[in-house]
Amino acid sequence: MSDFRVTAISKLHAEFSVPGDKSMSHRAAILGGLSNGTCTIRNFLPSEDCLNTLNAMKALGARYDVIEELADYGPTHLRIHGQSMKLSAPAAPIDCGNSGTGMRLLAGLLAGQTFTSELFGDASLSSRPMGRITVPLGQMGANLETLGEKPGCAPLRIHPAKLTPITYDMPVASAQVKSAVLLAGLFADGQTTVIQPAETRDHTERMLASFHVSTRHDGNAISIIGGQVPEACDFTVPGDISSAAFWLVAAAALPGSRLLIKDVGLNPTRTAILKVLSRMGAHMLEILHSSEGEPIGNIEIHGAPLKGTTILASEVPNLIDEIPVIAVAAALAEGRTVIRNARELRVKETDRITTVVNNLRAMGAEVQEFEDGMEIEGGKPLHGAEIDSFGDHRIAMAFAIAGLFAEGETIIRNTDCVNTSYPGFSHHLAAILDQRTDEAAFVLPTVPRA
Ligand code: S3P
Repeated sequence: MSDFRVTAISKLHAEFSVPGDKSMSHRAAILGGLSNGTCTIRNFLPSEDCLNTLNAMKALGARYDVIEELADYGPTHLRIHGQSMKLSAPAAPIDCGNSGTGMRLLAGLLAGQTFTSELFGDASLSSRPMGRITVPLGQMGANLETLGEKPGCAPLRIHPAKLTPITYDMPVASAQVKSAVLLAGLFADGQTTVIQPAETRDHTERMLASFHVSTRHDGNAISIIGGQVPEACDFTVPGDISSAAFWLVAAAALPGSRLLIKDVGLNPTRTAILKVLSRMGAHMLEILHSSEGEPIGNIEIHGAPLKGTTILASEVPNLIDEIPVIAVAAALAEGRTVIRNARELRVKETDRITTVVNNLRAMGAEVQEFEDGMEIEGGKPLHGAEIDSFGDHRIAMAFAIAGLFAEGETIIRNTDCVNTSYPGFSHHLAAILDQRTDEAAFVLPTVPRA
């Protein structure tokens, strides 16, 4: 198991891009595999989570060829051979690793098939709630069993079923649940509708449109008519703004710094982090290159003394993955930051309220824990500490950023988990610790395969 050893930096001047978006890479693998031809996917994220989904689609009959790969990780540029909605029975249970997105979306996909399948994951995934998808899928007529030691948890066994469409009012604002129901809806006769209590990331809807599958939008209700076959297309995945968020916070909190993150996804359902950092005092410029399909562009950020802020309830679904690193920004800011209405954090890869609160306290921050969030009284100097990631990628990376501002050395234990979402994070961290400004120091080496 590897560690990060981090010490304070005095400057951050860099321009680079981060690997492809995790949410979009999952969806590109799934829709590419369902499509009616061969799709080329560029800048696919070769993280463990997305490779598991890609290999799940392969186990269901959708082969892929690797054109280029990130050395030591996996494909970044590939061709996937769609099966025109006709999946085949997998020979073995499907491993979803650490990924809630992978498991929940695949469960939606598998709910209406003519064969039995099984989805399993690691210890963290096996303790996360699956009732949020088994309930709506069950209402559609799916026959799903949760086989976990913990009630309502994975592994999932999915029996053959013929699905009927439903209108589902989601009790939680979850893009994973919405996407699971919409994917199941593709295999149901008639119109399936999902109503979300608040806006959640809309990558499934946008990617369905890229594959010429039509959906209808009426406020927060999204409908899909079953039986449409996704049309093969080529898709370029923008950089992941949730990965960029770590460096954006580092630059924002360091007065005098300048960071340019290139070719990153600027989907408005994901950019609440930018609003929050602006409110905290960072100077920021978004330069949009294209707004067709998934918006993509550059973000330039200049550091400034930060001040605390209150995260609005309506912002929470659109920055849920960034809250660990926002909490770090809050500890570095003057004044109080309030993060409430974020109970969902307790059912992520770890209980991210407890892991963030305990790790921030270990570094000297003043934090109060609540059932649905935390309040941070910023501005206390951070000191180096030994921090556990608890196997959670975003905890490992958020506290690497905290270490860049702490006195003495911060050791983050158990950091292999960063490969879940950000292969190459340690390479970028090393370049930042060395205070490199040349772009070449940040390039992650890809090698052609075919
Ligand atoms: C994701 C949705 C979010 C997010 C996760 C990725 C997705 O989860 O936390 O990392 O790709 O749909 P919820 O939709 O459950 O909030």
